[in-house]
Amino acid sequence: MAYSGERAASFAYQGHAGSVKDPVQKAEIAQIEQDEWEHRAHVLSIMQQHGVEVSRWLELRFWVTGKVVSMGCYLIGWFMPYYFAGRLESGNVCEYFVMMRYFHELDIDEHDEILYEMGMKEKEHEEYFLDSITDNRKLALFEKVFGWGKDNSYNDIDSETANIGESSSYCDDYKTRNSKLTKNT
Ligand SMILES: [Fe+2]
Ligand SMILES: [Fe+2]
Repeated sequence: MAYSGERAASFAYQGHAGSVKDPVQKAEIAQIEQDEWEHRAHVLSIMQQHGVEVSRWLELRFWVTGKVVSMGCYLIGWFMPYYFAGRLESGNVCEYFVMMRYFHELDIDEHDEILYEMGMKEKEHEEYFLDSITDNRKLALFEKVFGWGKDNSYNDIDSETANIGESSSYCDDYKTRNSKLTKNT
């Protein structure tokens, strides 16, 4: 899912970058698109090391999702693509820390560094989108309705103090946090 999801994200950011007018924002979002392509390549290499096959069904499903979201960015104004990208990134952060924990259960720690790096990159993405809309009047309402914003995150990571040594304890409450936030939506 991470492998196929990363491509969906890249597609979505193509539409997002295409739909914003500001050249700086366009370049920033295009950089995030590149980050997601890199994540996809890293995930593939991990999968190949462990003989995990790419799912054609997930590839198709996420291909469609990515393309639909990409087109949608042209239709829903400036705020919503920023908001929902941030919300999505917020949830993606834990995927890589949870993955790290699953590997540890199998006594595999050789992927720690890349998983940490990818999780922290998603955190950076979350913060970028949040910073971009933090002064927007709509944020309070969206946070109330969709459950993510200044005071609500889908992960417990503090980018100021995060470090790889402690990272296997991150996202311990991932499932409860997710269902609590999802209930708000
Ligand atoms: Fe990613
Ligand atoms: Fe991301």
